[in-house]
Formats: sequence, structure tokens, C-alpha cells
Amino acid sequence: MPIVFHSGSREFHIFNKDVSYIIEIMENNELGHLYYGKRLKDRESFSYLHQEEARPLAALAGNTPSKLCLQYARQEYPSYGKGDYRYGAYIIEQPNGSKITKFEYISHKIYNGKKEIKPLPSTYVEQEGEATSIEIVLFDKIINTEFILTYTVFENRPVITRNVKFVNKGNLSLIIQSAMSACIDFPDREFEMIHLSGAWARERHVKTRKIEQGIQSVYSMRGASSAEHNPFIAMKRVGTIEDFGEVFGFSLVYSGSFLGQVEVCSHDTTRIIMGIHPNTFTWILGEGQDFQTPELVMVYSDCGLNKMSQTYHELYRTRLVRGYWRDRERPVLLNNWEATYMDFTEDGIIQLAKKAKDIGVELFVLDDGWFGTRDDDTQGLGDWYANLNKLPDGISGLSRKVEALGLKFGLWIEPEMVNKNSELYRAHPDWILSTPDRFESPSRYQHVLDYSRPEVVDAIFHMLDQLLSTSKISYIKWDMNRYITECYSRGASSLEQGMVMHKYILGVYSLYARLLDKYPELLFESCSSGGARFDPGMLYYSPQVWCSDNTDAVERLKIQYGTSMVYPVSTMGAHVSAIPNHQVNRITPLKTRGNVAYFGAFGYELDLNLLSDEEQKEVTEQIVQYKQYRKLIHQGTFYRIESPFEQEDTAWIVVSEDKKEAIAVYFFNLHHANVGWLCFKLKGLDSDKQYVLSLNDKEVSMSGSELMYAGIPLDRNKEGKKYGDFSSLLFYIREE
Ligand code: GLA
Repeated sequence: MPIVFHSGSREFHIFNKDVSYIIEIMENNELGHLYYGKRLKDRESFSYLHQEEARPLAALAGNTPSKLCLQYARQEYPSYGKGDYRYGAYIIEQPNGSKITKFEYISHKIYNGKKEIKPLPSTYVEQEGEATSIEIVLFDKIINTEFILTYTVFENRPVITRNVKFVNKGNLSLIIQSAMSACIDFPDREFEMIHLSGAWARERHVKTRKIEQGIQSVYSMRGASSAEHNPFIAMKRVGTIEDFGEVFGFSLVYSGSFLGQVEVCSHDTTRIIMGIHPNTFTWILGEGQDFQTPELVMVYSDCGLNKMSQTYHELYRTRLVRGYWRDRERPVLLNNWEATYMDFTEDGIIQLAKKAKDIGVELFVLDDGWFGTRDDDTQGLGDWYANLNKLPDGISGLSRKVEALGLKFGLWIEPEMVNKNSELYRAHPDWILSTPDRFESPSRYQHVLDYSRPEVVDAIFHMLDQLLSTSKISYIKWDMNRYITECYSRGASSLEQGMVMHKYILGVYSLYARLLDKYPELLFESCSSGGARFDPGMLYYSPQVWCSDNTDAVERLKIQYGTSMVYPVSTMGAHVSAIPNHQVNRITPLKTRGNVAYFGAFGYELDLNLLSDEEQKEVTEQIVQYKQYRKLIHQGTFYRIESPFEQEDTAWIVVSEDKKEAIAVYFFNLHHANVGWLCFKLKGLDSDKQYVLSLNDKEVSMSGSELMYAGIPLDRNKEGKKYGDFSSLLFYIREE
């Protein structure tokens, strides 16, 4: 049983072969935290790990003779106000104005498996014995309210998930002002913090910083998880690198505003709290009501960052992504956005689709510009029916014509938005989020529909249902191109306004769920001005996410490298686009553009009519090769080798589970004259296996040990002269 309760010491030990997590019931009946880290052999009591002391200025948590003092005590789900001056995990305001609570241990339940936390997305289990869970119930007798802390430990993964549910069992109306998904108190501060931050077109860049006394955090108050910060932090021991050292990952399964905060106290303990951002949230918890927080997925690795990432990849690819597309090979697609933008005709689209079919593409995707009066971005959002001037036979006709060519058909939508210049807005001006009588801040000329209101979600569902049921649509790119401002709902009372931002995300999830219930084979690709909502919450509904609007191969290296910290290759939408690149004007070789996009949900986004015969031949070969390798790329184990954040070049490898084959790639940045030699050292192979690979157009045989420890010799001087800047080398390696 990987979760035990030692009744003598009143300690819970949650463990598997890799990891231990230990909780104590403290003398005041609140929960203390004793340990999180590499697995400890179980014993009756780890009470010696309890460290706290009433130091000068400290308040006591009980009457003497108790010396319990919460100021520095490590706790499981603490609150501010009773002597602990750090940020707490929750705040509940009571009718008398007090925010002081005391949640005491009541009971617990240990069981096999893992429960869903509807209406929120979460990781899941499929097989008996895959995970064990514990629910610990704590109760505050003054406000008659309990919270249930749920922990799940996976049997064969170094993963513990957490969530919290608040249940009001009394008749007071409470206001939850903050409800984090978890708090983790470490006893020291010997960490560096890694986060994935950036902006539009440079999403999820890897940032590493020292932590210091005080607060350091990542967050979004934008209503989406955001391009600026991803809902992920990792705490690594100083010195931890890709394949060595200890690291703790924290990934929040949520797509809205979030906070991930690290607080180092005056006595060098480190507190992590993560959950819905309290600044954009309050929740009214009336009599008999409950509130469920999102899930936090904690991964432990004592073998460096690669191991942490591989654990997330495996878990998210097979136990977060669901349904028809989870294990299926993803279609190679052509998206017309960078080919035509909104300026297209049906004939032009058919012509492009024919070309796509000729080169081996499997799915044609029609992007923005097909609906309402959408000739530019000032109009049309909200009117999800075809513009018959552009598409005389509608989406129904066009989708059938594309299917007749032997391709699947996909479509872009942006269902959470509306332009003021649209039929939908004219009919329902009160359906946008905005404050009465005040300016409504536009962004890209559009406004956010009030998805906290079921009738709005319902209306959009019916429009989309009409489209999907009358056309042949296999794929939907669901975009979201602005953040929330003036978060006020005309469907909510004044007291309920703080609930709107979270309810909005619940509305988004509910629309996804309804569409998937009715169209389970539909492949969703989530998008938000590129990758502004690339988070685990989205992956529950949408197995792939458009990584970034930045399609430049060189810029993409950083974006995809950073994204790989948490997210599997199969989830990263990645396309070969035209040169000069539309975002940065850079010219890169077609081969490199292909080699970068290969490590993602692969496709093209350029005008195939403009390719020379030679380029057409090259992309045709590129697609043949991709189809041969895509299963390996999507389902193999991904290792980062060279970081674009640390030096010029970038490299990585994907190795099959049985280690019989692998695909490695080395990306050169700028070439330099007269440089030294380079040996490209691979990772993850079986050192005793004999492999073959093609090197300088010759098949060579090398053992796994040679490939990993001596490396593949690369002549940078020659490569530079032959291929120029931004060239790359792809190696397919198979057992001899
Ligand atoms: C966003 C997306 C792009 C494209 C445009 C269409 O920016 O990220 O890929 O779909 O919208 O307007």
C-alpha cells in the first residue's frame, strides 16, 4: 500500500519506489508537512523532521505548555493570521468579517485509483493499481466547513497530484478569497527556480533564477494561462542540469489566471503555493455548496531536468490527453494562414488543397476569414456561418470538395470572441465582458464573450453544432486572440462578479466537453495568438496546441526547447513556413525548417504554388520521411542535448521505448571559420546495442556506447561551407 497512516505518530506517508511525501497531524490538529523528496524507507514516525520554535516576536498556536508556533512551521495547507506571516494557501471571509479559521483533522480515506474532479480537467488512470489516493478531511467547527485535501500517487511514476475541495456544511454564506491547489513547504532554500516565460512570438523561454528571502512568482491575471508565464515552475537544486541532480516540478492543470509563488522566509524555508490567481478571484460558498480547485501535478526527479520532463511527457501524453486521437498518428496538415491570410477564394483554396494532396499532406486546414463578413480583423467574429461571397457552396460544399481530393478538412474558429461589427454583437450587445457605462477596451478590434453565462455558451454550441453536423470537418483550430479586460458579467449579481473569471474558464471547458461528447473523433488544436494558452488544462480537450505564431525555424528552437520542459512533442503544433519568414524576415534552409517542425504535430503553412519544382520534390520527401518517423517522434522518449539558451547550437533526440531506434537532430546556428571539432554525443540509447546510421551518405555501424560517450564526429568547417548558417543534421539510428 503506497499510502500509509501511522496512527501512533499520526503521520501519513505517501510513497512509491521513487518518492516520499510525509504529512503529520500536529498537536493542534492542523496538518504539518514533514518531507517531500526521494523515497524514504517507511517507519512509524518521522517526527524528528518537525522543526519549529517560538523565536523572538513569534506567537504561539496553543495555550501553554504547548510551544507550537506557526511562524516557521512547515504546513500542508496553511492560512495567514494565526502567527504564520507568510502567504497562506487560502482565505475565507466570514459574515462577521473575520478571515481566521482553524481546520482540524477529522478523518481520512485511502483508496485505489484516482477520482475525476469535474467540472475541471485532470490526469486520470486506466488500470487497476495504477495509482492510490488519499482524501484527508479537515473541519472548522465555527464555520461548519470542511476542506478535503486529495493526494494521488502513481505506482510507476514519480508523480503526486493534489487538489482541494471546500464544502460548506453550515448555513453561513462564506466568501473564498483565495484557494490555492497546494502548498509545499521545503525546509531549506538551496534551490534555483525555473520558469517558462516570454511574450507573444517568444513563448515559454526557459528562465532560471536564484531565489532569495521574499517573494518570487510567475502569474497570469489575463484570463488565460498566457504567453507571458506558463503555469509551471521547477525548483532545482543548485548544480542540477539536464541529466544530473534533483528537481521538483509543479504544473497546474488550469487554463485561466494563475499564481505560482515561491516564498523564502527569514529562516530559509521555502514555500511554494500554486493555484488560481487570488487577485482575479472570489467565490461565494453558500450553504451546502462546494468549491473544487484545479489539480497540481508534482513531479520529482533525482536524475536532472530531462527525467522530470520525460515524466511529464509520458503522463500528459497518456493520462491527460484523452480520446480518439490520444494514441493515433496525427495527420500532416497544410494550413492556409501564412499562404493567403484572409484573402482567398474557393478556387484558390481548392488549388492549394490539390497541391497539398500531391505532396502527401493528409489534412487541409482553412484558417481565419471564411465566415460572416470577415474580410479583415475588424469584423465577423461571432458569426459562425460561411461567407458565401468567398465560398459559394459554404463550408459544407468546400469540405466535401476537399474530401473528394482525398484529404481531411479542418477549420479555424475563435468561439470565445465577437467583433462589434457582427450579427451576433448586434443581437446581443450585453453578451460581452465589460463594465456598465464604461469604456470597453478592444483588442484586435474584438471583445470577449461572457462564457460565465451558460446561455452564451449554449448559443455558440448550437452555431458550431450546425456547422459540424452539416459539413465534413475532422479538425478544429480553436483560437483565442485576446486577453480579458473589464471582467464584469451582466449575468451575475454584484456579489458574484469575482467568480466571473473562473466561471469563464469553466464555460470554455464545458463547450469543449459538449463538442467532444457529440463529435468524439474531432481533432482539436488549441491556439491563442500562437501559444498564449498552452497549458495542461487545454490538453485534456485538445491533444495539440499551436506552439507560437512565430514560425521562424531558429526562433522556434527556443520555443520548442522551452515547451519540452513540460509538454510532449506530440502536443506542439509546428509548421514549415515560407522564407523570408513572415515574423522575422530570416532565410533558413527548407531542410532545417522541416527538421524543427518534425518535432511537433507537423504541418506546412505556406503557399505551395510558390515552391520551385526542386522545393516541391524536397517537401514531398520530407513528408514521406516524417510519416515513417512520426510514431517514434511522438511516442518515444525525448532528451534535450544542447540548449539554445546556453550556446549557439541546439540538439535533441527521441529514442523508442525498446531503444531499437532513435532520431537525433543537431541544429547549427551561425557558422564560424576555422573552428574546432565537434562530437555530437547522443543520449538514451542502449550502450550495448549495435546501431547503424547514415553519416556523410555512408551507412556506419556504431555501438550505443560509442554514440553516447564518444559521439558522432561532425566537421563543422565542412558543414558550414556546404550548408551555410542555420543548417541542421538529422540522424535516424536503428539497431543493426
Ligand atoms: C492567431 C493564430 C494564427 C492565425 C490567426 C488568424 O494569431 O495564432 O495562427 O490563426 O490568429 O487570425
